[in-house]
Amino acid sequence: MLRRLHHEQPSSFAFTPANLAWAEGQIQKYPEGRQASAIIPLLWRAQEQEGWLTRPAIETVADMLGMAYIRALEVASFYFMFQLQPTGSVAHIQICGTLSCMICGAEDLIGVCKEKINEAPYTLSADGKFTWEEVECLGACTNAPMAQIGKDYYEDLTADGLRKLLDDLAAGKVPTPGPQNGRYAAEPLSGLTSLTDHESGKHQYNASAQLAVDIGDTVKRIDGTEVPLLTPWIKSGATAAKAPAKKAAAKPAAAKPAAKKALVEKAAAPAKAAEVAAVDEKQPEVLTAPRASGKDDLKKISGVGPKLEALLNELGFYHYDQIAKWTAQEVAWVDARLKFKGRIERDDWMAQAAKLASES
Ligand code: FES
Repeated sequence: MLRRLHHEQPSSFAFTPANLAWAEGQIQKYPEGRQASAIIPLLWRAQEQEGWLTRPAIETVADMLGMAYIRALEVASFYFMFQLQPTGSVAHIQICGTLSCMICGAEDLIGVCKEKINEAPYTLSADGKFTWEEVECLGACTNAPMAQIGKDYYEDLTADGLRKLLDDLAAGKVPTPGPQNGRYAAEPLSGLTSLTDHESGKHQYNASAQLAVDIGDTVKRIDGTEVPLLTPWIKSGATAAKAPAKKAAAKPAAAKPAAKKALVEKAAAPAKAAEVAAVDEKQPEVLTAPRASGKDDLKKISGVGPKLEALLNELGFYHYDQIAKWTAQEVAWVDARLKFKGRIERDDWMAQAAKLASES
């Protein structure tokens, strides 16, 4: 399936203060230079806040993690769990259409979605409350057919059962997730032969369903007000001080062209004293134009594509021998401006450039 950004996008995105604190906590779980590892939790949080993943949200997350927008977009467009189009204000219904569920009636469930939501998947219902899609196996095959709605699984579904679920959700109710045919979990339909302790009545529902019932929530959007915010790794008071890119959290989409301009201006300006002290950067010698012999093809360096080559040129690097002699401090300076932290050393651009220089 072709996964593209939706044609209509909001002008900006900002995490709620509580979600921003949560996101900063996630970033702190990773060592310096590996902040990009937080991409999936941050994108997921943005989606849970807004219901879908907007372009400004993807770009805001990319800025927070020091990643190129295309890298964040690659993640968002690769994983089907990320919704790139608006979803229903109440719920997005994901019907499993893989083998077990298909044999047990998934097509009937899809028929209900077409009838009650919209003929086309990924399209809002008339009241804007629902969207639906068919997904691959969700790993609950013994309870086929099933659907994921919000954060929970609704299993052992029938067409009429799904109709009622949708009616209840539309009416603002929170249907109990889990098996919908009276099964406790995934035991045989003929009844349990072991692990029967729940029959004492101590646990009315299986653990997953019980948690959802206890919280009283299955489709509520996460806005960061949930208590507690599960970020025990954050030391009290450390969040704001250590967050790597807090300022980027409310970046509007319209600011994108300005971002490139800012990069160029930043490259031309001497690094601020505070920044130098923090990351031990040193500006390498740069050129205002290629030498008369013409610029080298920096794309021959593994890890440098057309966009990075253009950025390197904007920063004043046109030749292999310039890159070959970068020191560690100079690498830190370039790294900070290319927003690809760690890539230069990881791909050893200096050794590659030295080899290319000797061959040319
Ligand atoms: S086939 Fe539907 S959950 Fe596995």
